[in-house]
Amino acid sequence: MGGSGLQGARERRIRSGGVELRVAELGEPSRPTVVLVHGYPDSKEVWSEVASRLSGRFHVVLYDVRGHGRSTAPSPLRGGFTLEKLTDDFLAVADAVSPGRPVHLVGHDWGSVQGWEFATSARAEGRIASFSSVSGPSLDHFGHWIRRRTRRPTPRAVGQLLSQGAKSWYVYLLHTPVLPELAWRGPLGRRWPGVLERLEGVPAGSYPTASLPQDAAHGAWLYRDNVRARLRRPRPDAHAHAPVQLITPAGDAFLSERLYDDLDRWVPRLTRRTLAAGHWAPRTRPDLLARWIGDFAEAHEPGGPGGSGGERDAGREPAAPPRGAYGRRFGGQLVLVTGAASGIGRATALAFAAAGARVVAVDRDADGAVRTADEARAAGAAGAWAETADVSDEQAMEKLAERVTSEHGVVDVLVNNAGIGLAGSFLDTSPEEWRRVLDVNLWGVVHGCRLFGRRMVERGQGGHIVNTASAAAFLPSRTLPAYSTSKAAVLMLSECLRAEFAGRGIGVSAICPGIVNTGITSTTRFAGADEEEQRRRQRKSAQWYGRRNYPPEKVAEAVLDAVLRDRAVVPVTPEAHGARLLSRLAPKALRGLARLRPPL
Ligand SMILES: NC(=O)c1ccc[n+]([C@@H]2O[C@H](COP(=O)([O-])OP(=O)(O)OC[C@H]3O[C@@H](n4cnc5c(N)ncnc54)[C@H](O)[C@@H]3O)[C@@H](O)[C@H]2O)c1
Repeated sequence: MGGSGLQGARERRIRSGGVELRVAELGEPSRPTVVLVHGYPDSKEVWSEVASRLSGRFHVVLYDVRGHGRSTAPSPLRGGFTLEKLTDDFLAVADAVSPGRPVHLVGHDWGSVQGWEFATSARAEGRIASFSSVSGPSLDHFGHWIRRRTRRPTPRAVGQLLSQGAKSWYVYLLHTPVLPELAWRGPLGRRWPGVLERLEGVPAGSYPTASLPQDAAHGAWLYRDNVRARLRRPRPDAHAHAPVQLITPAGDAFLSERLYDDLDRWVPRLTRRTLAAGHWAPRTRPDLLARWIGDFAEAHEPGGPGGSGGERDAGREPAAPPRGAYGRRFGGQLVLVTGAASGIGRATALAFAAAGARVVAVDRDADGAVRTADEARAAGAAGAWAETADVSDEQAMEKLAERVTSEHGVVDVLVNNAGIGLAGSFLDTSPEEWRRVLDVNLWGVVHGCRLFGRRMVERGQGGHIVNTASAAAFLPSRTLPAYSTSKAAVLMLSECLRAEFAGRGIGVSAICPGIVNTGITSTTRFAGADEEEQRRRQRKSAQWYGRRNYPPEKVAEAVLDAVLRDRAVVPVTPEAHGARLLSRLAPKALRGLARLRPPL
């Protein structure tokens, strides 16, 4: 069974409709109960990583679905796996482990398909406080989804049907007699952990395999007993009686996100979240999944902030979950932004906050970082903290990484944004000035990527790194040799890292803004100029940037979009786009422009 066991779990057996269900419990029974239901072809151990993370806060209950793991199988198998019988099983477990108190239900894959049945069937009304669904639709909703598209076959509808149809190839196979059983007892069963490791990044040693061929063979009846019948005749009244958190892995090879387009009409209290993961998220993203499940359950405890039937505690009222793609993708994620006290970094921290992320605002300007953290909380962050650090200081960055990891966990999105400007010809630029600009602009990014990137890799649950480069990275000029060199290095570092982290689900993006109206003009140094001349040029460039007046909020928007769509290089302003295009199509023209004397 590899390293996937449920250590310290209490076991019990519960009888339901002629089968014996094996149930495992973790955590204090007086706490709110979370019931985790596994999918196909798994057993309850698939939830072990999530269960152990939840057990400090909840009474966690898992059971082997009939015919799976160590639960016995119905006899005969045919007709023994209907959703009605599976509902009997769930109610028997819920009554035994949490008598008289509704449970928080969580399902993955077929466990989620079952969960939808429980959350929409009148028999289970009042027994479910909340339902978190991961990668498994309601067969009724799916049936209606197909009907609507076949009745009005617009090109878009047909496209969606074909796309989901192609993803469902295995469902057709599972309806065939005997073939799946033979395949799972033979080569497929032996190779399955390797397949999951290759396709999904599930570490082979950690995937539970003890009962795999049997689970897969019996589980085929889940499909045969239910899918065709329900898709043909979906229930007309399959409305959810419990609040639902829909967690959709963005890289799910088996389910299209489009399936959930119509869900609002079935679920009056719906929270949507998107996870950067494949289908087996309970094994590859246990940290984030456990946090989302735990937060949703806590918010919907009867008598709690979002629960029904109790006094509402205004102080604990959770912020309405942010809507839209950013809210779904970044809600609850841990995002660290450097240079967050001002300009682009501040705007980026606030944009992630508005999407419901947990934000760590880092800057060498301690007061500014605190201000941004305060604003982030007001903007809707699920948590916001200020940290003071100079990104060019390796030891300070090491301490920062240790502190952040131990207090808040591994960072999901890192934005290496802190940077300083330096203008002046090459011959006017002193070695000291070179060192300073490279220390902050390049080494700051190197430290961030090394320290936080390594932790992302070790956690093995993906992530994203954004590095703020500049349009100067592809624009040679006689006026910004040191700054442009530092930014070209950041751009190349980002490209190299993107290649190295590609197989680990960690994206890397380089943002190349252009001219953006921030405080950078007041801190930019002009090499070779005396103090008076410094101030004159700073004033001039501030006026110039002010007239251009491109707001940092638009750069922040580009940052969130870059992470969402995993974009490699992102020019932001029109001049940045133009410069990027010219650097590819007409580098000679750029070289000509580089010789011009600056207007300042
Ligand atoms: N403003 C632009 O036109 C423009 C264009 C392209 C790229 N950029 C880049 O965008 C990034 C952000 O710049 P901005 O325009 O928002 O400038 P800004 O001066 O408004 O903000 C930069 C922030 O970084 C912080 N910082 C500077 N050095 C630091 C260090 N060593 N350690 C920790 N924090 C430090 C500053 O205190 C400040 O809060 C920089 O990397 C800059 O090079 C800016």
